[in-house]
Amino acid sequence: MEKFIVEGCDGLSGHVRVSGAKNAALPILCATVLCDGEVILEDVPELKDVEILCEVLRGLGVVVEHLDKNIYKLNAENITNTITGPELMSKMRASFTVMGPLLSRMGHTANALPGGCAIGTRPIDLHLKGFKALGADVITEHGMVTAKADKLVGTEIYLDFPSVGATENIMMAATLAEGETTIDNAACEPEIVDLANFLNKMGAEIRGAGTSIVKIKGVKSLHGCRHQIIPDRIEAGTFMIATAAAGGNVVIENVIPSHMRPVIAKLRESGIEIYENGDSINVISDRKFKSFDIKTLPYPGMPTDMQAQFMALATIADGISVIIETVFENRFMHVDEFNRMGANIRIDGKNAIVQGVKKLRPSKVRATDLRCGAALIIAALTVDGETEISDIYHIDRGYEDLVEKLHAIGAKIRRVD
Ligand code: UD1
Repeated sequence: MEKFIVEGCDGLSGHVRVSGAKNAALPILCATVLCDGEVILEDVPELKDVEILCEVLRGLGVVVEHLDKNIYKLNAENITNTITGPELMSKMRASFTVMGPLLSRMGHTANALPGGCAIGTRPIDLHLKGFKALGADVITEHGMVTAKADKLVGTEIYLDFPSVGATENIMMAATLAEGETTIDNAACEPEIVDLANFLNKMGAEIRGAGTSIVKIKGVKSLHGCRHQIIPDRIEAGTFMIATAAAGGNVVIENVIPSHMRPVIAKLRESGIEIYENGDSINVISDRKFKSFDIKTLPYPGMPTDMQAQFMALATIADGISVIIETVFENRFMHVDEFNRMGANIRIDGKNAIVQGVKKLRPSKVRATDLRCGAALIIAALTVDGETEISDIYHIDRGYEDLVEKLHAIGAKIRRVD
């Protein structure tokens, strides 16, 4: 099993370019199933999750060509299969997002239940509620969910929670349905907007993406197109917090600053200098920062995917920070790992109370999930000595060229077996 060895450093400096967003690339790859033409995608991050999803798509009959680094050509003209079993589905939850496109285009799909994961039970009831409302028969038995419909008919669907995955899956299912669908209380994340832009380029008629009411007018078919994936706001935020925590002066490039509002606001509040310049953000830190309070919320609130990284910063901030997780039920696994490094964190239900300490200490810790892994690297950059991080396959799922990018800004991190 591979591990990262991270050495504490005296500060980071230089430039780093953010990759295309994992959470935009995954649903967009699924959406290619809706169209019988050729699609070229640029800025697709080279990640384990993308590799697994391409395997799922090939299993359905999609021709996937990896033209160059970050460039993929997909052709879903001949869908030969609409069923994905547990071997692939259990490797990555987001594969479930092929269900909406398959149902819409083929009228049938069966997928193994994605099941729970480290950060909570993660039900799919809202996805299925949407498919049923559009007229599909949905049956869950023997660990498989089957959805069938002679035709899907547009309707009004209210989501009890603005789920990102459910909004995407229902939006795609409605794309080839008859008539108009309205998704009320839809998720507003930038990745939803990128998906809607991509679908519209292929000929879909979607309005309102990025607001809580999305309207989809069904069309007969979609055609091929070329699309560039938006930058990864979570990767950008991770480098911003790494610079804040380790100190230094780093320019983070290929960023859409308007996607970064909660992260920028919170870092400024704690005393970090942030300058926006077109599509780059400059972070300057003298390693002195105040404690802060955060509450994770659906977009445009603080992303739950930034919670662990902010907690890494809070462990060495001056004062007590309160971090409230409202999106996922069990997203504090990183707390034990930080405490192993000498942090002082107490959990009380959905709240983590973090008393900042002067220094964390070198330790052996475990990446319990993707963002926990990123947060442990941030923490490790601030200690005197070496931190060993195990289970780093989680980190490889979501950060492209992480070691190379960290080296470029002066961090000392190496991968060992
Ligand atoms: C997506 C992101 C993930 C991010 C999350 C929240 C991708 C591939 N992943 O995950 O990185 O952390 O958004 O921003 O884009 N829920 C239900 N029923 C459902 C669906 C969701 O109760 O049918 C609940 C979940 O249990 C969770 C909350 O809604 O508590 C948010 O989940 P959701 O927005 O669906 O997250 P994902 O799309 O899975």
